[in-house]
Amino acid sequence: MQAPAKSLYGPVAEDMILVEDLLESIKQVELAPLRRMLDHALQARGKRMRPGLVLLAGSFGDYNLNRLVPLGAAIELLHTASLVHDDVVDGAMSRRGRPTANAVFDNALTVLLGDFMFANAAEMVTRTGSLHVTRLFALALMKMTSGELDQDAAAFDVGKDIQAYLWRIGGKTAALFGNATEGGAALGGCDEATVEAFRTYGYSLGMAFQIVDDILDFTGDEELMGKPVGSDLLEGTITLPALLHMERYPRENAVKKYFQARRGRDERLQDAIEAIRTSEVLDVSMEMARDYVRRANEAIEPLPHNEAWQSMVELGEYVLNRKS
Ligand code: IPE
Ligand code: IPE
Ligand code: MG
Ligand code: MG
Repeated sequence: MQAPAKSLYGPVAEDMILVEDLLESIKQVELAPLRRMLDHALQARGKRMRPGLVLLAGSFGDYNLNRLVPLGAAIELLHTASLVHDDVVDGAMSRRGRPTANAVFDNALTVLLGDFMFANAAEMVTRTGSLHVTRLFALALMKMTSGELDQDAAAFDVGKDIQAYLWRIGGKTAALFGNATEGGAALGGCDEATVEAFRTYGYSLGMAFQIVDDILDFTGDEELMGKPVGSDLLEGTITLPALLHMERYPRENAVKKYFQARRGRDERLQDAIEAIRTSEVLDVSMEMARDYVRRANEAIEPLPHNEAWQSMVELGEYVLNRKS
């Protein structure tokens, strides 16, 4: 998978290499089987959005890379570990354009690999020297796990509403985006109003990010995304487009029939996908994502309109238009 254009992270783009170096350093473990697995999990790069956000928010305060880089690397490592586990949970075979760890090693080993990465991320976040930021980090992971567990518990349950969906993605995705921006600003020693503004910005951007991910599950290109698409319905994950469709067309609804089918569910899958693709619900979902980006921008509007600010506004546009 291609990393996004360098300009995406504007004034901090050059410093992102320090995050890469730190991530690279964690592969140096003695135990050969673990080294092999870490190598595999860290070989392909993602978009690096979360560390980008740490540095961008941190630049509004005292831009101390000795503290911001470990936080950026810790959050990226936490994110990557959560994907390693998410792919076990989802039974996904590709990620970042390569076979998943669970496709190469077995599930049991992959769970342990994820554990190691989580622990390594925790060790890394302590290098910030901030108990407060370490606590925010732990809270974000608790929210992510709760979101993922809720998603599993709600699979195929058509009784859940949009509010429940928003709560879930707030946990599984937006919490970590919020942690990146809030943590970066807090480490930078920004005043409380600025930290709060960045928390809202990161959280809202993360909400938009996951809604777009859920849209791309219907419309995305597997090659560009580097991971399976069309898998949410298959796994019983009821995302925003499906919820909107069931809400808007309560009678004889193909999506509802699919989720509720006791027998012959597989044959109903294509009808459900088709119903969503040919209706307006994907546009309506995108409008909701756009609304979250608007909220993100509103939150940082009072801050200085410098180069980092400009990049953060552009990141919102990127999230809405991304294809990968
Ligand atoms: C994927 O996140 C998981 C979701 C929150 C949808 P990213 O799309 O940021 O993954 P990478 O790091 O770029 O691979
Ligand atoms: C995001 O959910 C995963 C985490 C936040 C851990 P998804 O299940 O939608 O992510 P992808 O689509 O596998 O990247
Ligand atoms: Mg998944
Ligand atoms: Mg997804």
